[in-house]
Amino acid sequence: MRIGLMTSGGDCPGLNAVIRGAVLHGIKSFGHEFVGFRDGWRGVVEGDIMELPRQSVRGLARQGGTILGTSRTNPFDGPNGGPENIAKVLEKHHIDAVVAIGGEGTLAGAKRLADAGLPVVGVPKTIDNDLQATDYTFGFDTAVSIATDAMDRLRTTGESHHRCMVAEVMGRHVGWIALHSGMAAGAHAILIPEFRVHMDQVTEWVNEVHDRGRSPLVVVAEGFIPDDRKAAIAGKGTEASGRPRLGGIGEFVTQEIEHLTGIETRNTILGHIQRGGAPTGFDRVLATRLGIGAVNMANDRQWGKMCALRGTDLVRVDFSEALDGLKAVPQDRYDEAKVLFGR
Ligand code: F6P
Repeated sequence: MRIGLMTSGGDCPGLNAVIRGAVLHGIKSFGHEFVGFRDGWRGVVEGDIMELPRQSVRGLARQGGTILGTSRTNPFDGPNGGPENIAKVLEKHHIDAVVAIGGEGTLAGAKRLADAGLPVVGVPKTIDNDLQATDYTFGFDTAVSIATDAMDRLRTTGESHHRCMVAEVMGRHVGWIALHSGMAAGAHAILIPEFRVHMDQVTEWVNEVHDRGRSPLVVVAEGFIPDDRKAAIAGKGTEASGRPRLGGIGEFVTQEIEHLTGIETRNTILGHIQRGGAPTGFDRVLATRLGIGAVNMANDRQWGKMCALRGTDLVRVDFSEALDGLKAVPQDRYDEAKVLFGR
């Protein structure tokens, strides 16, 4: 069997470990051959491929990014897009299976191609951990660990200057990174897209901490929407639609805290640092296992399915199960974190 691997959407620590796991297992266990498509669906649509022999994956588990490159290209766009053209590309390069490694957008494209009869299997990927049908996505643990380390550092400088520190983390639609890194770092408020919180409540938490002589730490996910009409009226941190402007919500929260409490406050946007560099041990193991699992699925011709983590087991789920809405932080998980707020 000749298997084509592709990585698509935002990059994520662990992508290279998936590639390595798939190639090593496929060659050793079945004698398969591997190629990589360059830059996500673009490489599939244009037939831009590179051979992936055994030596090409040496040392890859600890390497961040993706050696294949990535893009947000839609496989149905453009004159060369769509299942018929892609089928011709696969035939021309003698490719029997495609392993699509990506998040919601990538897997939605993979599902449409599999529904059209193409031999596609999937591997879930996103630092946001917002995909249904899998307990964790690789990249999430790394992002949480980077954000936690950054917050520990913000706390020492914050304490020294008696300031309130705000950390804006990734999470456009869900707040898993904010929730986990905030809990790990002992944040005094965690603001996420799933739950609206009024700025008066935030300043109450901040004042409680400050009154005890401590330096408050506030964690904000980039998609948080304050339950505060002022945010929309002032246009601060919001797009015309009322949705927070990415990179703007941390600044809005910072300015409001300083204005409402009089406490000197500083904002730090962690941004793409959360996606760069080496994956954690947990993510390397999960990604390697998913690479192995994806090859097993291709071997069994389980087209239209994704390899997922349930507890500690790998399972095969239909793409449709993975695409059944985003996995949001539930109320009980947020309530657990809230126990730590203020104080
Ligand atoms: O989906 C992962 C993610 O990192 C989001 O948390 C973030 O909003 C987005 O990607 C950023 O995308 P880009 O790298 O295209 O700016």
